[in-house]
Amino acid sequence: MPSPIKTFAAGDMQVHVFSSKREASEVAAEAAAAILRSAIAGRGRARMVVSTGNSQLDFIEALVRARDLDWTAVEALHLDEYAGMAATHPASFRLWLKTRLADRVPLRAMHYVNGDARDLDAECRRYGHLLAEAPIDAGFIGIGENGHIGFNDPPVADFNDPVPIKIVRLDYACRRQQVGEGHFDGISAVPEHALSLTCPSIVGMTNLICCVPELRKAKAVRDTIEGPISTACPASILRTHPRAQLYLDLESASLLAR
Ligand code: GLP
Repeated sequence: MPSPIKTFAAGDMQVHVFSSKREASEVAAEAAAAILRSAIAGRGRARMVVSTGNSQLDFIEALVRARDLDWTAVEALHLDEYAGMAATHPASFRLWLKTRLADRVPLRAMHYVNGDARDLDAECRRYGHLLAEAPIDAGFIGIGENGHIGFNDPPVADFNDPVPIKIVRLDYACRRQQVGEGHFDGISAVPEHALSLTCPSIVGMTNLICCVPELRKAKAVRDTIEGPISTACPASILRTHPRAQLYLDLESASLLAR
């Protein structure tokens, strides 16, 4: 396995900087696999929450290739989905998870957030119950260009959210990012709402593996590590998690003071 160029603590979180996105993703995937193996060894099963997006592509590819991992003991949930979007839409996070994870490994279960459910409040309640059934051993959590975790953009992020999953309004920066990544033809095509696990749900996961490569994330990474712990940068809350690991490449780490 590749070694990090540097490792340091940011609050309770550990930060690892690698020379490339590929290396960061490979090491993050091995750490993720180790958490899942250990949960299976202890309880006979493991539960994970998977985030999507372009930044997670190398990570998930490395994870599905992990050796000695009994996928039939792993239950997968996801972090967020656009409201009103069919699971067949090319930008759908369900399609991302189906093609990159659920079709590739024999999961015990893949629980999708049905973003196009007729009653989204009922869908939030259903998914909230599912989340509460057992601890989440590992959350694989990306950070958006605006510092979001899940779809908790700065205007809607609440570190004391009373619910596990909610309907959120997406901010302009978040919607623009999705166009920039090539998922939509223009900003008007990006849905205005989504369903997202909330900040307490994310922080409540037993282990967090956060893979955040690329230059476009450099400012969000600086705010996450060096800014105040504030919903102005929702990912800053990750610094309060004692079992959070942040995997960066040289580009995403380029604005850090150390
Ligand atoms: C996305 C999704 C998350 C993801 C994060 C990083 O927009 N809401 O599931 O973890 O933001 O994704 P990306 O790789 O697109 O920057």
